[in-house]
Amino acid sequence: MPVRARKLIRKMRGGAQAHLIEAEDGDFYVLKSTNNPQHRRVLVNEWLACAFLRYLQIFVPDTALVELTPEFVGGHPDLYLSLGSRREPIPPGIHFGSRLAVHPDRVAIFDFLPDKLLNKLENRVDFLGTLVFDKWAGNADSRQAVFFRARAKHWTPLKGDAPAKVGFFAQMIDHGFAFNGPHWQFQDSPLQGLYFRTSVYDEVRSLDSFQPWLEMVEHFPVEVIDSAWKEIPRHWLDGDEDRLEQMLEELVQRRSRVPSLIHEMQRKRTSAFANWR
Ligand SMILES: Nc1ncnc2c1ncn2[C@@H]1O[C@H](COP(=O)(O)OP(=O)(O)OP(=O)(O)O)[C@@H](O)[C@H]1O
Ligand SMILES: [Mg+2]
Repeated sequence: MPVRARKLIRKMRGGAQAHLIEAEDGDFYVLKSTNNPQHRRVLVNEWLACAFLRYLQIFVPDTALVELTPEFVGGHPDLYLSLGSRREPIPPGIHFGSRLAVHPDRVAIFDFLPDKLLNKLENRVDFLGTLVFDKWAGNADSRQAVFFRARAKHWTPLKGDAPAKVGFFAQMIDHGFAFNGPHWQFQDSPLQGLYFRTSVYDEVRSLDSFQPWLEMVEHFPVEVIDSAWKEIPRHWLDGDEDRLEQMLEELVQRRSRVPSLIHEMQRKRTSAFANWR
């Protein structure tokens, strides 16, 4: 069920020209529109990537279909995309929403953390699982995350004991360029998908450090892919149905390729994994 937008808060930075909106459920969403300047397909990528990362038990935002009614669009003249000197309106309809995990007026959300705090992240290990995903999905972007102080709510035993205290958490965001963005093919350039502060990979000693995610991706259930695919609004595809199916088939075929892709990354940038032996 889509959630309706009720208030435009502000524009966000970035190539997709997303908008922060408050919805009728009282939550806040970063909305990427079907006509965003990157491509309509980035909405599909966001939707699928978040579903797959969730299966891998990595901390990602909840995603939602956000409805902009004609009244909302008409009542918010600041809701537009800048294309050169031109203003492109955002059409009413269903768009992609990435839900903020905290109330933006009550808790600070950071795009970056200094290394000292990065080292103390409660879910640092999520960067290892996410790299496995990014190599599998051929994410053509570097890794992006947001950070905030919170209590562990959705902890999973896979990551060891849950932290009892309030601490900094990283939430993985921006999957518009998974599957190589609008291209829906796998380019596999060795350094793509890496987080720019490589201290998050300090505990990597060998390929084994990326377990259990290597194993989970190798046996990634086709049913998880299928059910995420079914949730995609058909008008986000608009003639892309066959092409998407082809890309997802290729994705299934390459589940066992991740170890070699990580090896290649390690060879090309030995400094990325400072403690690899
Ligand atoms: N779920 C979220 N929670 C908090 N902040 C978010 C969330 N999703 C996005 N943001 C914020 O919105 C900004 C834009 O989002 P995002 O990076 O996904 O867009 P983009 O336009 O694809 O960016 P880029 O130019 O990096 O491709 C992010 O830098 C981040 O600050
Ligand atoms: Mg971004």
